[in-house]
Amino acid sequence: MRQAGRYLPEYRATRSEAGSFLDLCYNADLAVEVALQPLRRYELDAAILFSDILVVPHALKQHLAFREGEGPVLTPIRSAMDLEGLDIEGFLERLGAVFDVLKKLGTMLRSATTLIGFAGAPWTVVTYMIEGHGSKDFAETKKLMWGNPALFAAIMDLVTKATRDYLLAQIDAGADTVQIFDTWAGALPETEFRRWVIEPTRQLVEAIHHHRPGFPVIGFPRGAGALYPTYIRETKVAGVGLDTGVPLDWAAEVLQPLCAVQGNLDPLLLVAGGEAQDLAVDRILSILGKGPFIFNLGHGIVPQTPPDHVERLVERVRQWRG
Ligand code: CP3
Repeated sequence: MRQAGRYLPEYRATRSEAGSFLDLCYNADLAVEVALQPLRRYELDAAILFSDILVVPHALKQHLAFREGEGPVLTPIRSAMDLEGLDIEGFLERLGAVFDVLKKLGTMLRSATTLIGFAGAPWTVVTYMIEGHGSKDFAETKKLMWGNPALFAAIMDLVTKATRDYLLAQIDAGADTVQIFDTWAGALPETEFRRWVIEPTRQLVEAIHHHRPGFPVIGFPRGAGALYPTYIRETKVAGVGLDTGVPLDWAAEVLQPLCAVQGNLDPLLLVAGGEAQDLAVDRILSILGKGPFIFNLGHGIVPQTPPDHVERLVERVRQWRG
């Protein structure tokens, strides 16, 4: 959940050396450096690839820029002609830097440190591709999903194929596990959740298991609510990320028998710090700590997080004896 990033001064320094955020993602040496920065500060069990979920549409030749204070901006895909402008030929070659980052990290990490690759889930990536930026209501995406289902399905299909190839190549480059981020899964009603969250993720996990039987995949269907158990059973993920809204007793009783869970500290508690943070950490550990469990946040670290609070968190989890 965003190990690296703007909350670390050393990240901000490396990013300005790279030029832009995208330049940083495609500069293998600097991306390796940024991925290692949190591990120098904290005693972490895993390192996550430094990249972004939007390199997939970018490598399909959709125009993308990250603007300061504005987040990602893409030229939206809303017609058959827009879709034809995308290009899957040479897609993996354009992502060569990502695979170099994984290969380098694999040689630099201690063998006990898990290397996590990742991609956005097709639904979440497609919302950015259609909206052209982050959205609160996904109005353009839903208009296309319900108003032109054939075109919407064609976009989802292209992105699912690209994501499959991308994840398989990350695994070949040395990722020990891959996480599929479906940040906007909770925006869909049940029927569409099954069709556009569960089904494409199921296809990705199936392709990965065909390539590498038993390979562990982590899903993060943020906001899935009561559909978490269905998501786990049908996609066959080995682990799920719990968002901050998932009740812990329910997760222990209903989800942990199905797969490993990770989560779900509210990232803003890491801004508050102090006793509120400690109490929340202890509660998560006492309810989920019997396992299978990975301590994590319920969503990404925010830029205003004091690094000291992260250190306090890691030490508390390390010292826990449940
Ligand atoms: O955690 C890590 O160190 C791994 C790297 C990582 C990034 N993005 C780097 C990043 C990962 C795993 C992501 C995933 C990602 N990216 C998601 C899914 C998880 C989530 O947070 O919900 C999504 C939806 C994106 C798309 C994205 N990337 C947005 C909306 C933004 C702007 C957000 C903002 O706070 O401005 C980004 C930018 C981004 N991706 C940053 C980082 C470190 C900040 C870029 C900067 O330096 O300005």
